[in-house]
Amino acid sequence: MQTKIFAHRGASKYAPENTMPAFELALKLGADGIETDVQLTKDNVPVLIHDESVRRTSNGKGFVKDITFKQLTTLDMGSWFSNKFMGTKIVSLEHFLDWIQDKPLDLNIELKNNKIDYQGLEKIVLDLLDKYQLLNRTTLSTFNPKSVTRVHDLTKEVDIAFLTSKRIKYFTNYVKELGASSIHIKYRLLSSSLMEDSKQQQLQVRVYTVNKPAHLIRCFNQKCDAVFTDVPDIAKDYRRLFT
Ligand code: G3P
Ligand code: CA
Repeated sequence: MQTKIFAHRGASKYAPENTMPAFELALKLGADGIETDVQLTKDNVPVLIHDESVRRTSNGKGFVKDITFKQLTTLDMGSWFSNKFMGTKIVSLEHFLDWIQDKPLDLNIELKNNKIDYQGLEKIVLDLLDKYQLLNRTTLSTFNPKSVTRVHDLTKEVDIAFLTSKRIKYFTNYVKELGASSIHIKYRLLSSSLMEDSKQQQLQVRVYTVNKPAHLIRCFNQKCDAVFTDVPDIAKDYRRLFT
């Protein structure tokens, strides 16, 4: 199997991260999948935004958990990136699932519950994936080890990845015990021995965030299952060298 290319927060080098323009562009550029981040609003609506606060990627301020979905939809999520994207709205997870349902794309939904452990987030997301019949082409991922286990306890129908940027002793044993079926690692953690251990333990390995040509080439050489990249078009160009 060739290494899949996931557009990280959509094609986020070219359009504001986690917005419809970034997702549409990822599709147009030929990505195999889309990675996105989910937080919960005050009224428990899952929305696609990386940070706990809206400050960096909108014209508003405050924490997502303190703002209702309706209030969030009044914010401009595009101008911080470029005036060209002025008026771009926040995307709810449900809107995203409805859009992606008939597209030839895999999904990686990152549960952003390592800083705020949103109560019930796993079930809310799983129920929506079930409603749109997307469980079989989705990977859920999280930096929160407890959340990995909660997903594993709720269903065996979805791929669940433990995300990490840190070296962990007996890493593959640790993640298997959590109930994970995949690992998502920061690029600097990639090694041949980790690839071998993961293969033996039947864990899929996906690597973030891989934008530099030399790093992309190394991931393709190591036969990683996927890379997360802000530049899916460039990643595709380099992957062609390996087919
Ligand atoms: O899911 C891979 C990667 O997105 C994790 O880090 O901070 O970009 O969400 P971050
Ligand atoms: Ca992410």
